[in-house]
Amino acid sequence: MEKIQRTLAMIKPDAVDRWPHIEKIIMDEGFTIVERRQVRLTRAEAEEFYAEHRDKAFFNDLIQYMTSGDVLALILAGEDAVVHWRTVLGPTRVSQAKEEAPESLRAQYGSPTNDSHNAAHGSDSITSAQREIKFFFPDLTLEPVLTGEGAKEYLSHAVSPTLVKALTELCKVRPDDPIVWLADWLLLNNPNKQQTQ
Ligand code: CMP
Repeated sequence: MEKIQRTLAMIKPDAVDRWPHIEKIIMDEGFTIVERRQVRLTRAEAEEFYAEHRDKAFFNDLIQYMTSGDVLALILAGEDAVVHWRTVLGPTRVSQAKEEAPESLRAQYGSPTNDSHNAAHGSDSITSAQREIKFFFPDLTLEPVLTGEGAKEYLSHAVSPTLVKALTELCKVRPDDPIVWLADWLLLNNPNKQQTQ
């Protein structure tokens, strides 16, 4: 059975300028980008995010690395997203990634001179994903991901009625650019938004 999950991806400071390439990988892998936020982490924030590594020898270098420039935090959604994104990343150490998974993101965009400057991060479990998503997007309320019957029911109650109306109008009007027309119609007629005169 399919498992639609959300995970937290973070593009690290030295890889942020490779965003167009990384975004293409993310899209090609079939993820949906639910949210994105570019932010410069303070030392305290980086220490909080990586608190589980506080006692490790590499902690100081890690914090310095993560505060050296903006990071790009992303919520990715997709089937088995936590494991899928970790697979796209490849092994943590850049040299190992190059050896074992040369097509992986860390092999391609990790630092050639510093093995632990590995271009991107991914949550290691659903629990970490929840914590890390909350860390970067504290005000976001995420509904549970619906699948199977729940998703069907949601579509038939919350999406289809409006979409059928929109498509019926579209057939009547026959606009030159149907996609733009449909987008505008949906914005104007969103039943969840208070209508203004
Ligand atoms: P990340 O997946 O963001 O999680 C912890 C980070 O610490 C890791 O990527 C690396 O950037 C860094 N790091 C440095 N040395 C190590 C190490 N020996 N093991 C794991 N992570 C390390």
